[in-house]
Amino acid sequence: MLTDIAQQLEASPALDMETRADATREARLLVASVLDIAPGALTRILDRPVPHTTRDRILAAATRRARGEPMAYCTGLAAFRHLVLAVDERVLIPRPETEIVVQEALRLVASRPGGIAVDIGTGSGAIALSLASEGAFDAVVATDVSTDALAVASANVSRLPTGSAPIDFRAGADLAPLAGVVARVIVSNPPYIAFHEAAALPASVRDWEPATALFAADDGMARYDALLAGASDHLEPDGWLVLEVDMRRAQLTAQRALARGFESVRLVCDLSGRERVLLARNSPRASVFTRATSAATSVTTAASSAAAHTATIAASITAPTPASGSEAGYHARR
Ligand SMILES: C[S@@+](CC[C@H](N)C(=O)[O-])C[C@H]1O[C@@H](n2cnc3c(N)ncnc32)[C@H](O)[C@@H]1O
Repeated sequence: MLTDIAQQLEASPALDMETRADATREARLLVASVLDIAPGALTRILDRPVPHTTRDRILAAATRRARGEPMAYCTGLAAFRHLVLAVDERVLIPRPETEIVVQEALRLVASRPGGIAVDIGTGSGAIALSLASEGAFDAVVATDVSTDALAVASANVSRLPTGSAPIDFRAGADLAPLAGVVARVIVSNPPYIAFHEAAALPASVRDWEPATALFAADDGMARYDALLAGASDHLEPDGWLVLEVDMRRAQLTAQRALARGFESVRLVCDLSGRERVLLARNSPRASVFTRATSAATSVTTAASSAAAHTATIAASITAPTPASGSEAGYHARR
């Protein structure tokens, strides 16, 4: 069966060259994932008979994969940090570099147990569930504009280890679901691909993953702008905003965080040296800007007083902090 699947994948015009050239490995991954075993364990069971129902599930997953559907949707599972999450076409497949977002959020609050962590745009729940299971928060709030995504994320709670923090799932856009919430850390991996960049995306992303999870208006900046404009009102005085960023717009996003009055703004790189995570600390200035968003004078003041901070931040940006997170591949695949 493995050979048949490998040949099916190798001959599929819907798969990219790289996958077709590595069809044997891809077939092993697919079969192992459906059987819920490590690929290395396959060799031990290859000569054992496979029950009909299992065989049917493997063949159905292989047919879907041969049509170009991402592996995680075909098998229904995606690994993220210590968790294995159920995923389907309602949610973005969690990417390795998003693990850095979790790692940084946990690091920033490590010395202060308790408080609330918020995950905006939770998708499969990857970030929120990781914070709930690995952190020492009193509670986690997970939001999404997509109620389909919230259904997937809340079903994944059954995969959490006991002792994890409770998670409150809320529907709504940007910061709207956070009425009454003051968080120690707000984390988000928002949609950040510009609409005009769609054609350059790999087909496996553009044709299969939800557009709501990928694209944002204003050249990909709309969700960052919304979060930077209002996050201060929902953060503790020295709380942190942690955002996954598109490396092409990382510097711009950092400048906008400064202009909004955030402090200690820093970009964290993945292991390939790409700026992928923005850290920004709340400050009284940020909260003043939040409350005066419509006043032209405030905008001018924000821009000019931010300039004084820019040199400090520029130094951080030119010498970004490498993360100890896993090798990134998200940008290349998105
Ligand atoms: C890039 S995906 C991230 C999913 C998940 N957090 C992860 O890292 O794998 C972005 C998520 O944000 C949601 N989203 C899009 N626009 C939103 C908005 N305005 N407010 C809240 N969530 C939004 C999408 O439905 C999607 O689940």
